[in-house]
Amino acid sequence: MLFPDYRPRRTRLHPSIRRMVRETRLHPDNLILPLFAIGGKNVKNPIDSMPGHFQLSLEHLVATAGEAYGLGIPAIIIFGIPDSKDPMAKSAYKKDGIVQQAVREIKEKVPDLLVITDVCLCAYTDHGHCGIVHDQIVDNDASLDLLARTAVSHAEAGADMVAPSDMMDGRVAAIRQALDETGFENIPIMSYAAKYCSSYYGPFRQAADSAPRFGDRRTYQMDPANAREAVREVFMDMEEGADIVMVKPALAYLDIIYRIRRQCDLPLAAYNVSGEFSMIKAAEKMGWIDGTAVMLETLTAIRRAGADMILTYFAMEAARILNS
Ligand code: PBG
Ligand code: ZN
Repeated sequence: MLFPDYRPRRTRLHPSIRRMVRETRLHPDNLILPLFAIGGKNVKNPIDSMPGHFQLSLEHLVATAGEAYGLGIPAIIIFGIPDSKDPMAKSAYKKDGIVQQAVREIKEKVPDLLVITDVCLCAYTDHGHCGIVHDQIVDNDASLDLLARTAVSHAEAGADMVAPSDMMDGRVAAIRQALDETGFENIPIMSYAAKYCSSYYGPFRQAADSAPRFGDRRTYQMDPANAREAVREVFMDMEEGADIVMVKPALAYLDIIYRIRRQCDLPLAAYNVSGEFSMIKAAEKMGWIDGTAVMLETLTAIRRAGADMILTYFAMEAARILNS
């Protein structure tokens, strides 16, 4: 079709037609809110690089979870900031660990909100790596058992879904088997399947106190230069029993989201990570961009690339706007 027979502007002129031909929708149902749980009473530590986000002690955490539920956000994902770290990440899988307590409390007070837990060891190990370290090397197979124990302890506390973010090979199978053996065959796994070794995680590591104390995460997280490898990672996790796969980060990896959407039928999540949030907030603060408009455009782009759901620090702000 060529001009003047076809005029693309015809379907842009009336706001109602624009609504009718819109191909991508952003809805609160698509959003998952990340929250940071910390011990203590009445703690609400602002995270400098993530305006509006805090390390929250249980009563504040429950209040925020309730607020999210009230806005129509179906799920939250909890990250824990433990009060002790050690080489074996013991606080990650103990019964009264911070995440376990948070899950129990939220499931009691806001029972209909879906509670997802991030399963990793980096916030719990004294060296800050996502697995167990032997001779300066992250030992893949030795980490699997602890990750599985962590996932089971989250399920025992009442978590509705577990989300392993460690990037050890074989961890989805190990977690699936451990959950099945302990009677949690109905607890789904949302796997951080294609998780890149990204500098966009900076603000999060400050928030969760989970930066590696030596080296970096290049031996287990993916090289940002690789796309085909992401497909292999996703297929592996799918074979191992992942129910939902994730691409992370989102914005610099829209091509990966698009590829996975075309090649894999599982529900697909994308993680709009801390650095992506901080950049928009910072530019907004400088008066350089319209933060709200850029937020909506960004979330829409992630949906357009193919993500069914988005983990985002914008969840509350976006839901408020989408509801109004
Ligand atoms: C822990 C974990 C990280 C994020 C989620 N889980 C950080 C990392 O891998 O260092 C990043 C989230 C964000 O930046 O918002 N494995
Ligand atoms: Zn980790």
